[in-house]
Formats: sequence, C-alpha cells, structure tokens
Amino acid sequence: MVKKAELHVHLEGTATPELVKKLAARNGIALDPLTFKSDGGFAWNDFWGFLDCYDKAAATIRTKDDYRLVTYDYLARCAREDVLYVEMFSSPDHAAECGMSYTDHLDGIAAGIDDAHREFGIEGRIIVTCVRHLGPEKALSAAQLFVDNQHPYVVGFGMGGDEAQFHPKDFRAAFDLAHEAGYQTTNHAGEFGGPESIRASLDHLPITRIGHGVRAVEDRLLLEELADRQIPLELCPGSNVATGLYDSREQHPFKAIMDAGCLVTLNSDDPPFFATSVGHEYAEAARCYSLNDADLMWITSNAIGAGFCNDALKEALLARLHQ
Ligand code: ADE
Ligand code: ZN
Repeated sequence: MVKKAELHVHLEGTATPELVKKLAARNGIALDPLTFKSDGGFAWNDFWGFLDCYDKAAATIRTKDDYRLVTYDYLARCAREDVLYVEMFSSPDHAAECGMSYTDHLDGIAAGIDDAHREFGIEGRIIVTCVRHLGPEKALSAAQLFVDNQHPYVVGFGMGGDEAQFHPKDFRAAFDLAHEAGYQTTNHAGEFGGPESIRASLDHLPITRIGHGVRAVEDRLLLEELADRQIPLELCPGSNVATGLYDSREQHPFKAIMDAGCLVTLNSDDPPFFATSVGHEYAEAARCYSLNDADLMWITSNAIGAGFCNDALKEALLARLHQ
C-alpha cells in the first residue's frame, strides 16, 4: 500500500459518531437526537448545517483526556491506512466553548500524538486555527495564545470556518502575529468562495499554503500562478462532493488542477462527516483520476514537502516513504 500524508483535517471533526456518543455519556451531556441520522451517521444537509452539526459534536470534547482520546483514535485509524504523517487543525475556540484552557487542550492533543506515535510510529503535528465566522478579534486572541504558548508539536497557524464572512484583510493582524513569530500559515480559501477569495488570501495574508483552493480552476491566470509559484493546495475531493460543491468525484477538478502543474495534496477534512478517510481519498483518486502508485507517492511527497514541520522530520518521513 502506498504510504500517505495528510495536511488538512480538523481534529474536532475526526471524532466518529460512536466516539461522540461515548464522550457525551462520560461527560453527562444530553446530545440533541437531531445530531444523528437514523443510520447512525452525522445529520446535516448543507455546509451551514454541517458547521452546526460539527459544533455539536465538538462540544462533547470537554477535557484534556477527551482531546487525548480523539487524537489517538484518529491517528490509530490513519496508521492502519499506512499514513505516515498527519498535520491536524486544532481549534482553541471550540475548546474554550467547553471551558478548557488553551494549554489543557494542547497538552491533551500532544498526549494523543505521543500515544499513537509509541504504538504505531505515526507522526502528528498541530496547526492552531481560528474560526473565520467568529470574527477578527477572536482570531487575534487565538493567534496571541498561539505565540504565547509555543509547543514543539505546534507547527503553524490557520483559519477555517465560513469563507463568506469578513475579508482576509480583516485577519491580517492575527496572521502577521503568527508569521512574525516565525511560523507558516494556511487559510481556507476557494472552497465556498470563488477564485477571488484565493486571490484575496494571497494578497492580504502571509500564507504559504491554501486550504482547499479547488475553485482556482475557475480562473486560468490564478491557476497558472499557483502552479508557477508551486503553492501547495490542500485539496479535499470527498469533502467537496459531500458538501455539494461538485456532483461527483468524477466531476471534481482534482485531475485538471494536477495536470495544470499545481502542487496538490489529498486530504479528508472532516472524515466521519464526509464518509471518508485519507486512505479512501487516495483509493478514490486512483480510481476516478486514473492515478498509479507513482502518482500517489508523488502526492505524499508533496504533502511531506509542504508540511510545516521541521526539515529533519521531513527527511525522515521521505526516507520512510521510499523504503
Ligand atoms: N471547519 C471544519 N470543516 C471545515 C470546512 N470544510 N470548511 C471550513 N471550515 C471548516
Ligand atoms: Zn477544512
């Protein structure tokens, strides 16, 4: 099996319905029954419904030990699919909603990374994210916590959430703070926003990767620029089909973006919400876009090269990829 690496997954969005129910039970939380469909999966209809369902699931993660379990559980599933490296988005705002401190939330995730590394050898690192629809002030607070509490596993800063709210320039102060502290950053752009959203992120934020970026395909000049500059794109085909951006994987422009010379990676985003996993993304990309093992290895090496971790870890991961 080709070894894999993931750069775009929301930690709070990795907990399966079973794990969410277990956490709710142990934390004495009465879950809204509308959180789940009759088949047991998460219930949502559109992107905003998804964000709401995601928030309800995330609200069951209440303690340091919960974060440890969620992280371990996800990395264990990845390790079984031959994933070597996962860079996961953490959301201190979601943790704070549950009354957790920034450091408890981080220490819990780090403990989960250590547990999974000890057992499976998988490497995990953290990108601290802010939530766009919560606004620039919250984003700046998250960035301040990020720079004030540096941790060896925290390798970058990013932003998710509703791309239709605010403008990238509203978040410049938050991103500059992270960037000036020596970190690389990434922003969700060109998912529900069009190519102009990617352009605005590149123009106004010190980002070195783009979360999604899929809608660059709608602007030939932008696509050419992304290819020329080799700006890594954290593509998530299964997520885009699940949220209704494209009707099928066959209609997803992954292959067109790859063929345009862009530096593409394959990611799961929020795996149980979108009925996917990193392994499933690789398998479906191979099937739908006629990719061979060499193509998939190239995608993994793209992800390792575009990771925000240090060069020593990248070299070790590349050696394992080619073993
Ligand atoms: N937060 C969690 N998943 C997300 C996604 N796919 N887009 C934007 N924000 C998110
Ligand atoms: Zn995402």
